[in-house]
Amino acid sequence: MSQNTLPIGIFDSGVGGLTVYRALHDRLPNEHFIYLGDTARVPYGTKSLATVERYAIENSQFLASRGIKLLVVACNTASALALPKIREKIGLDVVGVIGPGGRKAVELTRGKERPKIGVIATEATVASNAYYEAIRRASDSAEVLQKGCPLFVPLAEEGWTSEPETYSIAAKYLEAMKEFHPDALVLGCTHYPILREVIQQTVGEDVKLIDSGEATAEEVEKLLIEKGLSNPARHAGERHLCDDLDHFYVTDAAERFAHVAERFLGAKPSKLEAIEVYGVDELRQKPER
Ligand code: DGL
Repeated sequence: MSQNTLPIGIFDSGVGGLTVYRALHDRLPNEHFIYLGDTARVPYGTKSLATVERYAIENSQFLASRGIKLLVVACNTASALALPKIREKIGLDVVGVIGPGGRKAVELTRGKERPKIGVIATEATVASNAYYEAIRRASDSAEVLQKGCPLFVPLAEEGWTSEPETYSIAAKYLEAMKEFHPDALVLGCTHYPILREVIQQTVGEDVKLIDSGEATAEEVEKLLIEKGLSNPARHAGERHLCDDLDHFYVTDAAERFAHVAERFLGAKPSKLEAIEVYGVDELRQKPER
């Protein structure tokens, strides 16, 4: 199989990364995807650096063992904490969601002398300052305010996208953000695009919301072209989210994953398998008998 026809690997701590899968699938209909949701060990957003790094490396090694041409780390927390370690261990191009999300925010606020950029994310992503650093690398005059919104994750998974409780939680989390009144607000967690409407109404219609998954899909497209790695297949118009060209793996609770996938994407994965990712590298390195 030529490199070009290999799938793109995507991993997330669970189901949230499906928003990134959707963005990639929409932008790159000729590509095939292998998605791994680490549903046995979710959430990552409250875990330590060492633990997130270990999980992220195991997930990456599992996907690499399946044969992929590029790895997308859809999980913001894993991108924030583990990207250097993943790159060190995996001999592949690796794209995280933080850099693209941060760069997009700066791009969309260009022209402002001192752009104000808000970031909402998990506690671990906020504590890592990864978005702050990505934004400041792209614009050293940007003013950044970050806020952890951990309850948005279960609310999105429950499908509470317009309940009054969701609006009141958003109002509480985003009080200081509203006062800061950013020019752009980065949705720095896989789940937050599901609550886009609530977030937009809470911070105000004039705030530009940045979906890091969409920004990542744009950069992945550029990278594939630059490296000559695009798939020559012509599927445009024939592809559907979760069709049988894409393969989904979870580390636990496949049925729940399928159920939430249907809620997020309007379709259940055609190919879904429960697997274990622990020790994949040791298995891979064992000589064949
Ligand atoms: N996927 C995670 C992220 O984007 C959210 C869920 C979790 O905490 O694992 O940060």
